[in-house]
Amino acid sequence: MKFLSLIAACGLVSSVLAAPTPDVIKGNPFSGVNFYVNPLYTQEVSQSLKVLTQEKEWSLDAQAAVVGLTSTAVWLDSHVKVPSISYHLENSLVQAKLTGKKTVVTFVIYDLPNRDCSAGASAGEYTVADNGLEYYKEYINSIKAEFNKYPEARVTCIIEPDSLGNLVTNLAVPKCAEAEADYKAGIIYAIQQLQQPNVALYLDAAHGGWLGWPNNRIGAVQLFGELLQAAAPATIRGFSTNVSNYNKFNTTAFDPITKYSDTPDELLYIQKLTPLLQNASLPYNFVTDTSRNGQQNIRNTWGDWCNIKGAGLGARPSANTGVSNVDAFLWVKTPGESDGTSNSSAPLYDPNCSQNDSLPNAPNAGSWFNQQFIMLVENANPPIKA
Ligand code: BGC
Repeated sequence: MKFLSLIAACGLVSSVLAAPTPDVIKGNPFSGVNFYVNPLYTQEVSQSLKVLTQEKEWSLDAQAAVVGLTSTAVWLDSHVKVPSISYHLENSLVQAKLTGKKTVVTFVIYDLPNRDCSAGASAGEYTVADNGLEYYKEYINSIKAEFNKYPEARVTCIIEPDSLGNLVTNLAVPKCAEAEADYKAGIIYAIQQLQQPNVALYLDAAHGGWLGWPNNRIGAVQLFGELLQAAAPATIRGFSTNVSNYNKFNTTAFDPITKYSDTPDELLYIQKLTPLLQNASLPYNFVTDTSRNGQQNIRNTWGDWCNIKGAGLGARPSANTGVSNVDAFLWVKTPGESDGTSNSSAPLYDPNCSQNDSLPNAPNAGSWFNQQFIMLVENANPPIKA
């Protein structure tokens, strides 16, 4: 009897020991941890390298391979992608084991009804008219259920790039006006459901060329405050900027397109938003996308956003940003994936994608675009060290 209870006790002890320790984020979720490398991105890049070596002489294979092993965000841009969360979180735990360091995965929550309401390229699967908010809530519930399976994994989310920017400046566009109530309700719901001890949220704040203008940034902070008040006690860690955009983080050689702005780079934008957020008692930490901001002076106007010619990879993902309220540089937009098709007869065509500062022959948003990948690697700044 004694023997048996000893065995039972040992079993209990070992199962307690084996139980994973839940992750509890304190402060900057990117600090002191590794950034997740998505094996599916590594594969995308190595496929591209195969095509490349068949097509032309190219001297940057080794650099491209390094890019394939760099951390990128995982876009949950439709409900069918949600089950892949398990795959990514399991891989992140393997990477954590191999490196002996916690590994943070960044997901992009991107499926609001009437998505990308002021442009044509990234329209999503749900519409306001067809009960999209209910479907969106199901999408969020499924994400939450996936996250809940891995309390020991560290997760950050970028919530709905461009959506609030559209509510600040584009309500004259009918598709945006129609979306206003659902964008708000959807984002409040996402914050309430997804914020967990091991999940830190960043609400998208567009970029300095959009919400940086004085009236826009005041309007943006009011809107952030409204949504966060409604979501409370759930909260966010901070805001994301420059997602899928090309703005430099910190420069003194300002791009001529930024001429009349007092937020010509993302750091200045963040520095203008910070006191407004502080005055409104809102969180004021940031992450910023540096996946494609290595080169400047490549756009005709600041509003151009589609597969810009001459772009290069920017700063590598890192928590060493040199700015106390900037948590990390991230590669949020997946380098090598298109912003939108340049084919004017395609259903998701947006005229922005066939301007003369956009690469020609571009596939749909999110599809692999070899030429763009090559260009980004060639123009990387700082250059990729192989
Ligand atoms: C697209 C998404 C894609 C993401 C990353 C967005 O522009 O709309 O479908 O996953 O970029 O490439």
